[in-house]
Amino acid sequence: MNKNAQIITALQQKGGAGKSTMISCLAAVMAEDGARVVIIDTDQQKSCMEWAEERELPNLDVVSHLSEDTLFDLVEKLEKSYDVILIDTAGYDSRMATYAIQISNLLLIPSGGSKKDIKGAARTWLHANNLTKRNKEAPEIKIVIWKVKKGTNVLAHAKNSLIESELPVLPTIVPALIGFDVISWNGGLPEGSARAAVNEFVASLQIEGHLKYYVKGAA
Ligand SMILES: Nc1ncnc2c1ncn2[C@@H]1O[C@H](COP(=O)(O)OP(=O)(O)OP(=O)(O)O)[C@@H](O)[C@H]1O
Ligand SMILES: [Mg+2]
Repeated sequence: MNKNAQIITALQQKGGAGKSTMISCLAAVMAEDGARVVIIDTDQQKSCMEWAEERELPNLDVVSHLSEDTLFDLVEKLEKSYDVILIDTAGYDSRMATYAIQISNLLLIPSGGSKKDIKGAARTWLHANNLTKRNKEAPEIKIVIWKVKKGTNVLAHAKNSLIESELPVLPTIVPALIGFDVISWNGGLPEGSARAAVNEFVASLQIEGHLKYYVKGAA
């Protein structure tokens, strides 16, 4: 199905972990670099749609899509015109998320540092892995520690717990920073240390070979 575009989906059972923020930031960095990017916002909350309405970015489109049974058709239509298709979901436990998992090349699971977040990430990984492990081309799945303060015990617990469970975790974390809240008001990318964290996150994905589109500014 994936003819040209790389399809990247954000999933996480636990709400509020950072799916929409992650998708928006990834999209904006790639679009800024010159990739043709589209976000398919499959969440009724329309966080990515609302974020994009605050500021128009060249190379970036966002479509709201709430009908599960036409997701494949939409992707088939878009994949010829874009380098990257990013899908924001409302979780993992829905037909929409199941379709998104099936169609993606890369699945990203943001996780905070609480036990609930880590359990949610583990369950989301298990679900996505079970759904795809017998696929001819199973997607890569990565858990991203997101919105956790650096240098805290919580971060240490979260990291240890993921590593002990042998879950695939990205080495770079995206810390809790106020700059991320601002983008829901301003659109676009955060500034300062939050922007640097986004760059590090994209670079880490790139260094690990997860991105098909090469972001020149990232690594
Ligand atoms: N790294 C971060 N540091 C601080 N705040 C963050 C960070 N990432 C996201 N946030 C904030 O956390 C809140 C939840 O983020 P977001 O909406 O991206 O989560 P979500 O997983 O998409 O939530 P939902 O399950 O409701 O769709 C938002 O207010 C967002 O601005
Ligand atoms: Mg969201």
